[in-house]
Amino acid sequence: MENNRGQWGSNLGFILAAVGSAVGLGNIWGFPYKCGANGGGAFLLVYLILAALCGVTVMLGELAIGRKTGRGAVGAYASLAKKYTWVGYMGVASGFLIVGFYSVLGGIVLRYTLGFLLNLFGAVGFSTDGFFGYWIANMPGMVGFYAAFMLINIIIVSGGISGGIEKFSKIAMPALFAILVVVIVFVACQPGAAGGYKFLFVPDFSVLASDFFNVLKTAAGQMFFSLSLGMGCMITYGSYLSKKEDLSGNSVIIPVADTIVALMAGMAVLPACSAYGMEFGGGPGLLFVTMQTVFTQGMGGFIGNLMGFLFYFLVLIAAITSSISLLEVCTAFLIDKRIEKGQDPARKKMTLIMAVIAFVVGLPTALDGLGTNVAGGAWMNNPAEMFGLPVMTATADWLDFYDFLAEGVLMPLGAMVMSILIGWVFGNKMVSDEVEASGHKFKGAKYFEVCFKFIVPVIMAIVLVAQITSFLG
Ligand code: PHE
Repeated sequence: MENNRGQWGSNLGFILAAVGSAVGLGNIWGFPYKCGANGGGAFLLVYLILAALCGVTVMLGELAIGRKTGRGAVGAYASLAKKYTWVGYMGVASGFLIVGFYSVLGGIVLRYTLGFLLNLFGAVGFSTDGFFGYWIANMPGMVGFYAAFMLINIIIVSGGISGGIEKFSKIAMPALFAILVVVIVFVACQPGAAGGYKFLFVPDFSVLASDFFNVLKTAAGQMFFSLSLGMGCMITYGSYLSKKEDLSGNSVIIPVADTIVALMAGMAVLPACSAYGMEFGGGPGLLFVTMQTVFTQGMGGFIGNLMGFLFYFLVLIAAITSSISLLEVCTAFLIDKRIEKGQDPARKKMTLIMAVIAFVVGLPTALDGLGTNVAGGAWMNNPAEMFGLPVMTATADWLDFYDFLAEGVLMPLGAMVMSILIGWVFGNKMVSDEVEASGHKFKGAKYFEVCFKFIVPVIMAIVLVAQITSFLG
């Protein structure tokens, strides 16, 4: 490399880090529930088609832009064409918005992991019965664990690409996979598990006929978030990839691995709910209320504490390998700027600066107690209360507000603009040249051209409209 930005040590290391970014909270509590509630196998089919058409395409586009320019989101667009630098800024903005709330959730996962660990050693890991409700209104606890989770991110990202992110992912991802298999096998042995598989897999095609756009929007939104696309994360990770690696192969491997883990997560979480007679609710409730009850009351005893610890430890790993990629998008922005000016990257310092800013930006998502508000014991009110807005998904708490801005608007817009730029402005040739730079033949060039030009922009436009209407509903 012509500069000291850093580089992945091997292609496997890159894949583990990229799959680590993709596999996160989105897979573990988003996918299983959304799949089950939207037609099961029918949703899965739509998801797979979308992943093949849009997921792989946008993945390839981002990796190619990143590797070609050797810059993070902002620097990459600036070096392709100055007037499109704003697309890169949208990505960094999404990074800031997401890394904050993601780390607030990560902090709660850290608290649960420690809780089960304490239980295992006979101490009291959870102070009350309805622990989640108590915890989200416990401001020093929420902020403290948020800070602790952010600190873990700072340590890893400061270590650099091969020495920090790759090194961590190389241990964390195989560990995650192994623990997931243990949990799946254990859950499969519990009577009543079949109900969960049925909810997850049995196709209900009538949903497609009656509610097609809703399924399409849910599957597409889930896919983009889950694959870490549309905000420059894969541009940034691609910028550290050596010219000899196979871009198009990698663009298929990452979505396939992410989807497998999402399905596996579904096979761990949902059968556990059905075996212990719990509702398949979605969101924070599924991850923090239902699953905790499964372990403490359903399984109970030593086994419950052990499986609880393993499960939350697994979620913790998944969350960390994703949040470091978000922090890296922000950090790479500053590092690129310094390198442009001929300065030394000062990675440690830049990581710290970006993490502190992200921490402050994300603070409201912890301080409103996920919508608990001052009346419920939190220190801050939700956006609806603060600005006198009507209560909608996007204003009910700061987390959903940030999620609306990032996942609802900036990310689909980013993916749409990138595809249009590749399809109509920079040209598909830019991607094929980059793929072939490694000496690999670019198979399916025509297919990708059609996807960049027409399919991704159209689907993204549908998603954008549908996301905005649902968040404002
Ligand atoms: N893909 C991650 C998940 O599923 C979230 C994420 C989004 C990470 C965007 C990086 C960029 O949880």
